[in-house]
Amino acid sequence: MGTPAREGAPVTLTIDGFEVTVPEGTSVMRAAALAGIQVPKLCATDSLEAFGSCRLCVVEIEGRRGTPASCTTPVAAGMVVRTQSEQVKKIRKGVMELYISDHPLDCLTCAANGDCELQDMAGAVGLRDVRYTAPEDGMRTHFARNTSGEANPEWLPKDDSNPYFTYDPAKCIVCNRCVRACEEVQGTFALTIEGRGFESRVSAGAAGDDFLSSDCVSCGACVQACPTATLQEKSVIELGTPTRSVITTCAYCGVGCSFKAE
Ligand code: FES
Repeated sequence: MGTPAREGAPVTLTIDGFEVTVPEGTSVMRAAALAGIQVPKLCATDSLEAFGSCRLCVVEIEGRRGTPASCTTPVAAGMVVRTQSEQVKKIRKGVMELYISDHPLDCLTCAANGDCELQDMAGAVGLRDVRYTAPEDGMRTHFARNTSGEANPEWLPKDDSNPYFTYDPAKCIVCNRCVRACEEVQGTFALTIEGRGFESRVSAGAAGDDFLSSDCVSCGACVQACPTATLQEKSVIELGTPTRSVITTCAYCGVGCSFKAE
């Protein structure tokens, strides 16, 4: 969740009127969490290095211009932070509108329904309407490309090649969590982001551009990191949302990571 708390000199700051003391180098987001204040977030997690890409965690800091991302901003002594000002609430709502404007609206039949951070955050920022309209032929802004490199206004097809999980680019919000998990958790570097703007997407980077023919070792770190239904375990898709979970050792490869099994 932002820059991890570190061993360092204690720093005292004020967040939403509460005085908080945390080690030097701690992120504003983590300091807020330690004070019981949850700042909306999509690209930050407890286990990955802060990235600062989703812009949902913006806050106001007295005496500073703009609205910095709390996940990448370190605390400073005497800092006065506001996480719930009208300005930041408006910015977060606008950011969520843009995410939803480019996302399939099939929540009721989606495998991640009820376990989707995009859905949770849309509720957390109070999003009710989306002002931005989709292209005429539907909300299809993750364009597939034909062999000449021209954009084809269809959703990119799902990648079903991996035996354990599927990759659905239409549901990707390009938060980069899967790419970072692949690098930071597994050290595999199998994934990357290609393209720009609406055309940016996660790529397995292989010649066939599918997970199976890439360097992916099927460790599942990317699936664990995904906040939407973009990367989904096949068992979840086939069996529905689980009602209980246990910690088990991942059998996908020889690393022996612990994973939550449903
Ligand atoms: Fe801070 Fe995404 S959570 S920018």
